[in-house]
Amino acid sequence: MIVVTGGAGFIGSEFVRQWLATESSELVNIDKLTYSGNLENLASVSGNSRHHFVQADIVEQSVIEQLLHERQPRAIVHFAAESHVDRSIHAPADFIQTNICGTFRLLEAVRAWRGTASREFRFVHISTDEVFGSLPLKAAQISEAAAYAPGNPYAASKAAADHLVRAYIRTYDLPAVIVHCCNNYGPFQFPEKLIPLMIARGLAGESMPIYGDGLHERDWLHVSDAARAIGLVLARGRIGESYNIAAGHACSNLQMVCMLCDLLDELRPQSPYRPHRQLITHVAERPGHDRRYALNADKIAQELGWRPQISLREGLRQTVEWYLGNQAWLENVVSGRYRQWIADNYGWRNIRS
Ligand code: NAD
Ligand code: TYD
Repeated sequence: MIVVTGGAGFIGSEFVRQWLATESSELVNIDKLTYSGNLENLASVSGNSRHHFVQADIVEQSVIEQLLHERQPRAIVHFAAESHVDRSIHAPADFIQTNICGTFRLLEAVRAWRGTASREFRFVHISTDEVFGSLPLKAAQISEAAAYAPGNPYAASKAAADHLVRAYIRTYDLPAVIVHCCNNYGPFQFPEKLIPLMIARGLAGESMPIYGDGLHERDWLHVSDAARAIGLVLARGRIGESYNIAAGHACSNLQMVCMLCDLLDELRPQSPYRPHRQLITHVAERPGHDRRYALNADKIAQELGWRPQISLREGLRQTVEWYLGNQAWLENVVSGRYRQWIADNYGWRNIRS
């Protein structure tokens, strides 16, 4: 039995689906179901008797502690977080509450319960490349040993959570492993992040807002490769270590959006919005916008034999096809109020509410 937090979100739900498909043990999925938590993401496992969903907030230490006593998991994989940079600029309080206080409460629940935990217990903490801050264009990729330099409230809240996990490893012998993930993409991603947002807006014939000059670089990893890497870290990662998970598929935001436009042109040949590149619009710069993230993933390759299996070309095509085939899912998750803040702050007009 393992516990997953945040398993109704984008990466967490992929991890849950993979786990249930490849492992034989039970999984307790603890999720608060915030705006980005969605049980529709778990529809394909809804009849699986090994999946136990519990709606709970990780900040509620006593609830989590009781769950740990009852279930006696052999591992916790901690995905639950507020995850979007723009929202953290708009309203940082939830990020402090969930990412820092929530992680702290979860760690305290584990500490209180661990007297009875099995010796094999593992805590896998899901972190991000953003804790290392922005890298100069063309600088070498960074390793797990790079210094932390978070540049926005989301990144700072994740860095604080990492520091707590590191402190618990050292002070209380918490058998934890940290993973730093680059940008993920794929099915079920909430359409606030670049790729699903641009697909959704392209489908609707709406402008595609690129912050600033669009030359910012991100490394894009398909969520299925990311979840597989996390599974390997859970199984064989060394306690106290951190592992970078990255694709080596770096491109600028502008290049990414052009690729998406070209895929939409090809997959929607009757669309009145072709060529979709005409929808690209440069809008105001994101405050504190990190220029580049670039992780070196040699350690996980050498120690655990992980390498991405899905090329960016293949993954993007599959992702656009998924959104084309799941427009009801897309409609169900779009929120108007937050998008208005984006419009007001990035000079982005022509939004739907
Ligand atoms: P997401 O926003 O899609 O999902 C987050 C999930 O956590 C949701 O199901 C939400 O309901 C749940 N949650 C939020 N607050 C909670 C709370 N207080 N208690 C319990 N559940 C709560 O996020 P994601 O993109 O799947 O990211 C998952 C993890 O991976 C996060 O820790 C994020 O920081 C990290 N990460 C994401 C990316 C990426 O590209 N998406 C990259 C690197 C790291
Ligand atoms: P995002 O998906 O929000 O992920 P992150 O900020 O965690 O990297 O954004 C990816 C990149 O795309 C980032 O450089 C910001 C940029 N971006 C835009 O240019 N326009 C948008 O509408 C969004 C959401 C992001």
